[in-house]
Amino acid sequence: MFRPKRRLMLAAGAALFLASAGVNAQAPAVAPGLANVVILATGGTIAGTGASSTTTVGYTAATVGVQSLIKAVPELAKVANVTGEQVFQIASENMSNEHWLTLAKRVNVLLAQPNVDGIVITHGTDTLEETAYFLDLVVKSRKPVVLVGAMRPSTALSADGPINLYNSVLLAASPEAVGKGVLVAMNDQIQAAREVTKTNTSTLDSFRTPELGMLGYIQGSKPFFYRQSTRKHTVDTEFDISSVISLPMVEIVYGYANVGPVAVDAFVAAGAKGIIHAGVGDGSLAAKVVPALKAARQKGAIVVRASRVGQGILARNGEANDDELDFVAADTLNPQKARILLMLALTKTSSTREIQRMFYTY
Ligand code: SIN
Repeated sequence: MFRPKRRLMLAAGAALFLASAGVNAQAPAVAPGLANVVILATGGTIAGTGASSTTTVGYTAATVGVQSLIKAVPELAKVANVTGEQVFQIASENMSNEHWLTLAKRVNVLLAQPNVDGIVITHGTDTLEETAYFLDLVVKSRKPVVLVGAMRPSTALSADGPINLYNSVLLAASPEAVGKGVLVAMNDQIQAAREVTKTNTSTLDSFRTPELGMLGYIQGSKPFFYRQSTRKHTVDTEFDISSVISLPMVEIVYGYANVGPVAVDAFVAAGAKGIIHAGVGDGSLAAKVVPALKAARQKGAIVVRASRVGQGILARNGEANDDELDFVAADTLNPQKARILLMLALTKTSSTREIQRMFYTY
């Protein structure tokens, strides 16, 4: 089993590498016996500031730099040799396919270095689950990758960012996290990238894996794992983004009472190669939308039936005859994660049979 090496010599090599890459890494004081963890900062509320200590909504995300985040938690030095790199400084609603490709390539480069044992990515919570799942499918390493955010800005009373950051660094430094796929550490809980979702607009316990359950807890500066996601991830996927410079256009159409064909038609006219239909219930299709989806498929777009419900298996050939329509069922993936898998699937194939296999594999 791979175990993170407790290395003594991060500073020179990593700092030179990062400096030549034009990023703001800072060589830390290196403590013997500790794992080397790189924090890649992307913005979000964990790096946000509000007008006062009681401002917990209406603050500005993505204002505090990575070195300040690290300095705010001196306890990090007890659990890992930490370096920081500001990859982006954005609110996560602005996360794009291009950001994902840049981030994933950086993660793969860093994890290929023997002097990096794990990565923490600080991120806005709004699309954190999407970035986590994207990385889960394209990171080519068994070393820990942990995403972390905060529900309260750094200036708030009882801000959750510092403890979440501390927990995520100790998780990324821990042998127990090796080979578990991309993880999310929020609110003392460890969640799997594929299954976790943001469930509340503002409470600290927003990140949950309803029904299937979280992987474990972080307590007393130790991770405790109780289960594992069974789907393939990281080194066991077929996706290689090393030479990918853009991802195919895949859009999400929402199902609701009185829905019509306008959104599907517009996305296809705009060049969508895939449509995720976030249907009502078990992915039901309104009669007025079916002709638009059929036409989309005839024009070559892949149609994936997902559900807006948020829990449960989308039954293939249940609420629609997927075999006849040549559609794909999303299994348990929520629409936003189905979009990610479909984009990656389309980098490999346009066969609906193959894409359906991928939805039952990842
Ligand atoms: C964001 O997603 O960037 C803002 C909200 C948050 O981080 O909680």
